Amino acid sequence: MNTVANDARAAGARVGLSGDTITINGGSPLTGRIEVKGAKNLVTKAMVAALLGESPSELRDVPDISDVRVVKGLLEVHGVKVEHNVSEGILLLDPAGVESAHMTDIDAHAGSSRIPILFCGPLLHRLGEAFIPDLGGCRIGDRPIDYHLEVLGSFGAVIEKLPTGIRMTAPDGLTGTKISLPYPSVGATEQVLLTAVRAKGKTELSGAAIEPEIMDLINIMQKMGAIISVDTDRVIRIEGVDKLQGYTHRALFDRNEAASWASAALATGGDVFVGGAQQAEMLTFLNIFRKVGGAFEIHDDGIRFYHPGGELKPVVVETDVHPGFMTDWQQPLVVALTKANGVSIVHETVYEQRFGFVDALVKMGANIQLHSECLGGHPCRFGQRNFLHSAVISGPTELHGADIEVPDLRGGFSHLIAALTAQGTSRVSNVGIISRGYGDFITKLRQLGADFVIEGE
Ligand code: EPU
Repeated sequence: MNTVANDARAAGARVGLSGDTITINGGSPLTGRIEVKGAKNLVTKAMVAALLGESPSELRDVPDISDVRVVKGLLEVHGVKVEHNVSEGILLLDPAGVESAHMTDIDAHAGSSRIPILFCGPLLHRLGEAFIPDLGGCRIGDRPIDYHLEVLGSFGAVIEKLPTGIRMTAPDGLTGTKISLPYPSVGATEQVLLTAVRAKGKTELSGAAIEPEIMDLINIMQKMGAIISVDTDRVIRIEGVDKLQGYTHRALFDRNEAASWASAALATGGDVFVGGAQQAEMLTFLNIFRKVGGAFEIHDDGIRFYHPGGELKPVVVETDVHPGFMTDWQQPLVVALTKANGVSIVHETVYEQRFGFVDALVKMGANIQLHSECLGGHPCRFGQRNFLHSAVISGPTELHGADIEVPDLRGGFSHLIAALTAQGTSRVSNVGIISRGYGDFITKLRQLGADFVIEGE
């Protein structure tokens, strides 16, 4: 079995799936209320930030997802005491006993996660050395780490490539620096933040990513004692300090999960109240949702997403860094666009290969063509490089049930939606991988009235 399937099986076991295949009888609308917790893409980084504190940290609204378990395991092999109250969604992280870990232990706990790269700055400050194994993550292109290595090198880390991974040391400590990112990478911006807050002197980062999850990480670090300012034009300035404390923080909600359930409501002709979702971080998504013909109501405690009846309309969407339309929102939306009356275009400009999931939709009857040209708007950095990164979706089409296999996290959620929308029965394998980022998705599907059976139960 490959690594992805192994991860999926392990993740599946943890979410209460006895196997990693579910059979879905599609065709009925999802209706009801579910709650979203803290954002996967903030919570995992907030856990790493706890390494920098001289006292314990407390993180609230932590989702029950396997990525959190992976980071918990990685922190534990580095000597951090972690208590996870899963039902309350609270993590207590005590870094008093931080110690070096062996590459093999890091590798064993990291699975396919890319998180170990973000441990480097904090570990170099605390221990003077850090290791990273070969990194995985979702299969969405190469996902290189060149920006991360350049960032760490420019703070003064000495980087040594070994056959099993990378070893870093900081014989003279880490010193603040001036960095300009060639692309506003989320991970590289987090790398700078996690390293600069304890580096000697000042750091200036231009070309920074400014996603809400990054802003919330900055909130956390400010609580810890860091001095970080976010200026206009994607410039972040950090003044290094000698000491940081632990934090207490309630994580920002998961806007990717909220958008996924919203698209599921629209594609199935349903009505889903997403408790915990908030408008400000979803502004761009809400505009597109409305243009497609979806309706929403903003409440203090969440957002109701529903299909108001009538035809869905085609749209032209380009994924982009914040405040653009997130790359993680396109896969579930594409399923809804197969129901729209006309030709939609989705131009993926963040990752070069994020349309692998459409093969399954085509197998189910969708009319989707992939192109290597930049369609629908501005040329992007993938235009001349022969990557199939523009999708043309012609609708409306009726999807029919099929046997499909989840390829990655967001693509996997779109497969679930497609199966829920389709006429007939679908067998969806590898679903455990979805628990990397969607807490209790099986329970939530049940709450929304989905008709499915878990194989082996
Ligand atoms: N890139 C490089 N070199 C690097 C780092 C990134 O070329 O060293 C490129 C990537 O290949 C990609 C682009 O820069 O083409 C943007 O990548 P970025 O670094 O912004 O992404 P990331 O930090 O690896 C996070 C999220 C992703 C989300 C992206 C974009 C986490 C754990 N992951 O990834 O989330 O899509 O930002 O917002 O925070 C997901 O949740 O399913 C997911 C993939």
